[in-house]
Amino acid sequence: MESHTIPGPSSPGVWHSAQVVFNFLGYSEKCREKYGDVFQLNALGSPSVVCSDPEDVKTIHTQKMEAFDFRSPNLVLGSLLGEQSLLMMEGVPHRELKKDMLRHFHSMLSDKLEPRVQECVAEKFDRCFVGAEGELTAHEWTKQVTLRVIIDLLFGEDDPSLNDEVETKVSNLLELMNEKFVTACLLIPALQLHRLAFGSWRRYLSARGEVSELLRRSIQLAKSDESLFKGTLFRFLVEEYTALGEEEQIASVQSQLMTLLFTGHETTANAAGFGVFHVLRDPELKGQIRETGQRKSLAELLADPYLDSVCREVLRLYLPSLFTLPRVTKAPFQLRNYRVPSGVTLMASNYLVHRREDIYENPLAFVPDRFCGKQFGPFEYFPFGFGVRSCLGTTLATLELKLILTHAALQNHVALSDLQTPKLARRGFTFGPENRVPLKMCSSAFG
Ligand code: HEM
Repeated sequence: MESHTIPGPSSPGVWHSAQVVFNFLGYSEKCREKYGDVFQLNALGSPSVVCSDPEDVKTIHTQKMEAFDFRSPNLVLGSLLGEQSLLMMEGVPHRELKKDMLRHFHSMLSDKLEPRVQECVAEKFDRCFVGAEGELTAHEWTKQVTLRVIIDLLFGEDDPSLNDEVETKVSNLLELMNEKFVTACLLIPALQLHRLAFGSWRRYLSARGEVSELLRRSIQLAKSDESLFKGTLFRFLVEEYTALGEEEQIASVQSQLMTLLFTGHETTANAAGFGVFHVLRDPELKGQIRETGQRKSLAELLADPYLDSVCREVLRLYLPSLFTLPRVTKAPFQLRNYRVPSGVTLMASNYLVHRREDIYENPLAFVPDRFCGKQFGPFEYFPFGFGVRSCLGTTLATLELKLILTHAALQNHVALSDLQTPKLARRGFTFGPENRVPLKMCSSAFG
């Protein structure tokens, strides 16, 4: 194997870790500028290599999955999601569970779900904005939509009071996760001094305990009455793990539920918040989507090429995670003329690829038309990753995004209260609009 040293900053690991936790966007952009398309970092206790060239992304994403360890780089999520999470599974068990989950997901993502999501978008809009006082934000709305949709998808709608309780408790937990100190504790486990827990970390632990207890009670309820939750993903998970002892079964179901609640919620809400900003910021864009929303049936709306291009552009620029799933090399790995030793975390950055000038003209500008009639390659545009680890929620996220943007375009009485494009900023494990996109109600916002 040919071998050259991968360039990268030589400052101490503690400095890299602080940059990764508090300034990841700026830091990764600076490193890319200084060291090129492949650079190495030594952050959060492990060496990593960041890639932003489509050819390198292809090399990584087309390898046999057995070449990589997915468990150790994602263990940082273990304290939140549980260590049985799909994100940390590998090999045949991962493939089979994911296939079954996808099958259930798609059977539920049927014609019934589309009107239900549309209804939820409108309900949550009214709840957030009609007659509301105080600070209104697009992110609060989009977050309420995506959380409720994933809860209803998981548990069905037999017991709305259970869904309400899950909504309140998970929302509280995720709000706490977004506090800087909690994020730092989650990313740097050495900071998690449970006995000395104080402030926001203590509140986070208590909220996590409440969610865990609620999910445990629901699992016990599902086990004791088989007529409940029929046909839901929750029922499937409870049955999937029946061969295990009770505690293991509960822990495994809890872990997959937490994974879906967590991955299926703030990710889309963040991207949709940016989408709402652009729809309300640009009267022409708003007018086009509004016209489609007024004229077309739901099925036609979801197939509309312009709305599709707007959503693609949102997901090009505003990714809730800056990389595909991190993977650790199990053996020395050849990446162009670099020999990457085993034990190194490979990070394919869709964020950096999506901002390359040689692929996207004027890459920082929001231009949906760049997608009209043009296809980019799967390693030039990959908001949902690629291959066996690609996103389970692609269809759901796209559906939610389209319906949220259309609903925003159809409003007459809501406008942005800050016209500056929001910055992409860390919110816990994800990235979203720094200012949450503040809105105001007005007599008429459609000109
Ligand atoms: C705009 C919204 C979203 C974006 C941009 C996004 C992006 C991603 C990306 C980049 C990956 C890693 C793919 C890879 O390594 O190849 C991923 C994985 C995953 N996503 Fe999403 N996601 C979104 C929404 C969702 C939703 C709504 C759900 C759940 C309903 C979800 C569930 C998952 C799961 C479970 C995985 C892990 C898959 C595996 O381990 O095989 N995501 N997502």
